[in-house]
Amino acid sequence: MKIAVAGTGYVGLVAGVCFAEKGYDVTCVDVEEKKVELMRKGISPIYEDGLEALMQKNNAAGTLHFTTDYTKAYKDADAIFIGVGTPEMPDGSANLSYIATVSRQIAETIEKDCLVVVKSTVPVGTNDKVEQFIKDFLVHDVKVEVASNPEFLAQGTAVRDTLHAARIIIGTESKEAEALLKKIYEPFGLPIVSVKRRSAEMIKYACNDFLALKISYMNDIANLCELVGADITDVARGMSYDERIGARFLNAGIGFGGSCFPKDTKALKFLAREHGYQLKTVEACVDVNLKQKTRLFEKAKDRMITFSGLKVAVLGLTFKAGTDDLREAPSIDNLKLLLAAGADVYAYDPEGEERARQLFPEGGLEAGTMNYTDSIEKALDGANICFVFTEWPEIKEVKPEGFKERMHTPLVYDGRNLYSPEKMKAAGVEYYSIGR
Ligand code: UGA
Repeated sequence: MKIAVAGTGYVGLVAGVCFAEKGYDVTCVDVEEKKVELMRKGISPIYEDGLEALMQKNNAAGTLHFTTDYTKAYKDADAIFIGVGTPEMPDGSANLSYIATVSRQIAETIEKDCLVVVKSTVPVGTNDKVEQFIKDFLVHDVKVEVASNPEFLAQGTAVRDTLHAARIIIGTESKEAEALLKKIYEPFGLPIVSVKRRSAEMIKYACNDFLALKISYMNDIANLCELVGADITDVARGMSYDERIGARFLNAGIGFGGSCFPKDTKALKFLAREHGYQLKTVEACVDVNLKQKTRLFEKAKDRMITFSGLKVAVLGLTFKAGTDDLREAPSIDNLKLLLAAGADVYAYDPEGEERARQLFPEGGLEAGTMNYTDSIEKALDGANICFVFTEWPEIKEVKPEGFKERMHTPLVYDGRNLYSPEKMKAAGVEYYSIGR
């Protein structure tokens, strides 16, 4: 069976590599020649645990190919998986232009019957449109069907999440498409939930938005904990034993970021509005998250006369640990505010620096200055204030004494609840976290 994959971002690349790992002949297509060159050498364009090893193994086995030549990849494929991005538009809707481009390329190049599988997160009803669009532009007389197969991997654990997924969702409109997709996933040995296409599309949003809601709910409760003298970590621990609630995604903090939750909450809100419905729960989740991202900055602003001329240590830039991705990272909102307020920021992140430099180049700005350090210590040395934005293990390992001894003023604002308030206090650190 020949599989082609369109797009080599998190969704496409990981899917392609894992299909190859399961023995399929896979060709991954991307428009960027440079990126394709690197992937041919087994170098992943994204930082993802275990991915490069699998790329190299399957490249060497001859089952995994990378190309910019989509015609060659699509023309005789049995199944084409679409994993291109669906970024957020200014109005909150999902941008489907990449999906449209790939659909048209597929229509114009396939020479045999083929199943097109949409893995990208797309608004409910998009698969119907993709199928119609491809049929409208078909060049050869072939049978084509579209199936929905949403992806549930999280960045940082993408390979594990794919090979050991909790379930595979497939959304199809015919027995043939259902049978083929089931066959493709057979070697994974995972539970398969087979539904109609629109339900599959909705499952993806419903899952992401539910998890986002869970986080915003915990952040809301955390903010209330601060007012009433309760401790959110204890509250979460107490909640976690209830199996109906579950132990995961109960961490209050600086708000969710990344390429999925922010986009998918807004997209569902938009979809509902388009249908004349107000999705109040998700709208509240978006509002809570927006405020949460800069809550610590606001607190610090109340405490300080000015940030101007102060050395501000920033520990962690990525939207979570285990990734080099900065998309929608709370650090971005905070850096903008800090720099505008005249701070001299010294930021450290073990993986995110390169991407951060594209957003915040090093050097002097109108107000403050942006600086990057290659160690936590250098960021902390002589700092007047420290913000923690990402829960990298090495940042978590910093001892209270480390803050106390290195900083000019040991004043720490922790957006990830990494340290013990008691130990920080005992060491003489003025410490603020979330909901405690
Ligand atoms: C998320 C989902 O977890 C995946 O199942 C889904 O496939 C993916 O989106 C997607 O749609 O592609 P991801 O964005 O990689 O994955 O990362 P998560 O681990 O879910 O974290 C998202 C954000 O929530 C991060 O900013 C994280 O710090 C935050 N978070 C997570 C919390 O603030 N508290 C928690 O308890 C958990």
